[in-house]
Amino acid sequence: MGAAAQPQLLSEAGYATTLGSEYSQLEPENVMKFSFVHPRPNTDPAPYDFTQADQLVAFAEQNSMRVRGHTLVWHKQLSGWLTSGIAAGTYRSSDLNFILQDHITTVMRHYAGRVYAWDVVNEAFNGDGTLAHTVWYDSPGIGLAGRGTAYIEQALSWAHAGDPNAKRFYNDFGAETLNAKSDAIYQMARDFKQRGVPLDGLGFQLHVNLSFDNPNTLDSFAQNVKRFSDLGMEIHFTEFDAALDGGDPQRFASQGDLYRKVTLVCVQNPNCKVFQTWGFTDKYSWIPQSTNNQQGWALPFDLNYNKKPAYFGMLNALTGQ
Ligand code: G3I
Repeated sequence: MGAAAQPQLLSEAGYATTLGSEYSQLEPENVMKFSFVHPRPNTDPAPYDFTQADQLVAFAEQNSMRVRGHTLVWHKQLSGWLTSGIAAGTYRSSDLNFILQDHITTVMRHYAGRVYAWDVVNEAFNGDGTLAHTVWYDSPGIGLAGRGTAYIEQALSWAHAGDPNAKRFYNDFGAETLNAKSDAIYQMARDFKQRGVPLDGLGFQLHVNLSFDNPNTLDSFAQNVKRFSDLGMEIHFTEFDAALDGGDPQRFASQGDLYRKVTLVCVQNPNCKVFQTWGFTDKYSWIPQSTNNQQGWALPFDLNYNKKPAYFGMLNALTGQ
């Protein structure tokens, strides 16, 4: 059972106590992303900075928690030196190939033996199953533009070199049910499996709302998880939250039921090893800030770290009640 966490909040007693006592895993919500760990160009004497991520890892170790790493190859939260250098034409594909290889291997070596699994690649597909145009794929890319998932394969191979003992994941949103995006990811996973490309698992983000609590949706979700699991892939639910448009008891009860049903899909699937939420307290969630405060209340603890029905929904699924 995991939660995304932020190191600057550990000084708040309620935050640290709840995280450290209720969860067995944490994942940095932001501070292992490119702009945080790789703030300066490779020509700088000190291109990397692990200060904030190290704080979270130390907290996890002090509290006997495992750490899941997020994320090495993503087109968001990149450093200004990188995006402006690409825009200016300073960095071409051969440079990006070197930069990404160095990034993956340096970050993974720094955390070898301390981060047991990595979202090596995050959000590479569009909703229609095509590959997204990103700096790593084709804009300008690392030299494998137009060759489909070859750049993802390259990143996974570099990750293997960075820490051969860490599990390598592909992580995405909107691929929870049977749809064009999950079909494309499934084809990739099956191809990688057949050819021995080092992909160990799939992360399903699961940023949902109460509309997910629908028999057809939940059935499609369970079938989709099963097909990946049948490939021999490890499944992690990586970023679950269920956004509400109000914080009243009725909505909290409905949310608790959805938490129970989603947790149950993991519990009932032997290859589903991790159930993680994107944060844990409604006090600190990405949803209000990204919806102009129209939505929120998405997590298992309220603003004062009291357990909500969502917490007991997870607990009921885990204990079979
Ligand atoms: O770092 C700056 C800081 O210097 C500045 O003072 C502050 C002012 O607003 O902004 C800070 O940047 C924020 C950053 O988080 C770090 O806190 C950005 O504004 C904010 O947009 C950014 O949001 C993060 C978002 O990823 C970026 O796309 C969220 O916290 C984080 O929860 C969210 O996480 C993603 C996963 O990585 C991938 N899946 C989807 C998920 C939700 O969007």
